[in-house]
Amino acid sequence: MKNHLIDLNDFSKSQWDEIINLGEKIMDNPHIYEASCRGKIMGTLFYEPSTRTQMSFQSAMLRLGGGIIGFDNPTASSVMKGESLKDTTKTVSGYSDIMVMRHPVAGSVKAAALTADCPIINAGDGGHLHPTQTLTDMLTLQKEKGRLTTLKIGICGDLKYGRTVHSLVKALSCYEGNSFVFISTEELQMPSYITESLEKWHKADSLDEIIGELDVLYMTRIQKERFTSVDEYEKQASRYILDMEKLSKGKRDLIVLHPLPRLNEIAIEVDDDPRSLYFKQANYGMYVRMALILIILNYDIKPPVLLRGGVRAGIRCENPKCILQTETHLEHSFIECDGVLTCEYCETRKMYPI
Ligand code: CP
Repeated sequence: MKNHLIDLNDFSKSQWDEIINLGEKIMDNPHIYEASCRGKIMGTLFYEPSTRTQMSFQSAMLRLGGGIIGFDNPTASSVMKGESLKDTTKTVSGYSDIMVMRHPVAGSVKAAALTADCPIINAGDGGHLHPTQTLTDMLTLQKEKGRLTTLKIGICGDLKYGRTVHSLVKALSCYEGNSFVFISTEELQMPSYITESLEKWHKADSLDEIIGELDVLYMTRIQKERFTSVDEYEKQASRYILDMEKLSKGKRDLIVLHPLPRLNEIAIEVDDDPRSLYFKQANYGMYVRMALILIILNYDIKPPVLLRGGVRAGIRCENPKCILQTETHLEHSFIECDGVLTCEYCETRKMYPI
């Protein structure tokens, strides 16, 4: 068993706390850890653009004394010659002690983990999950609010394709007393597979009506790259914009977070308000990734259990954004929970008879 991180739920809640607490310790005394990964190599495979996740991981490994290899432009690798995900990741895992991968297709990192020879960390798989952003957000809440419990969290923007918010809501719902307000258009609502497991949540149409009640406002970008047409994207863009007029209705101890990059959903004028913590949040990301690398490589932890499903006669996953559509060696495998079948890779529930 390898210590992959595909979905935060593969780790136990006490392991999340361990990572966050270690992140805080590293932040306070970074010099203590500066040779902790000497001689280790991290492979970073970024099939999709990234600034923060890629560079914070690279910076994290360098600050721990390790080295890095990898690509951030697959067209400059043998992917361009048609190499499969399985073959690329299997090969790079032989050169690396740990791999970090971002890919535009849901379930891709799990698919890679099945044959990789070293631990692999999910740095974002399509519109599905982004667990290390969630660890970043949790460390930010721990540092800035002093707790991960009893928070009223408003999440605004693209809740349908926003992988960062899916992971965040799943994680924070495991802590006592948190409640959620989902602020989005009808078209970009939070998927039902997330809301079904929540106890305290409701929807809101406008930021104005709800901002005064929140402890945390988590803004997100409308992601053009997830829409099938520019028309559909333009109908959704610019619907929610946080400006000083709206922020003035927020509590004095409200904090505003955003995974970044932003477009126009937070006006530039908001950056100077002390409640705006999104750049600090990006910085916390490096420390929590240092902690994660250390724990995966150097600490004797109980490996997370990768949930495996099974083939069901007569059905296949038809999500066009699932890795099963391109990695054809993989079986269409499903996990059953409370009588409901979900695709093992992308968690979609839409399956069609063969
Ligand atoms: N938050 C985040 O994932 O940013 P990047 O896309 O720049 O990595």
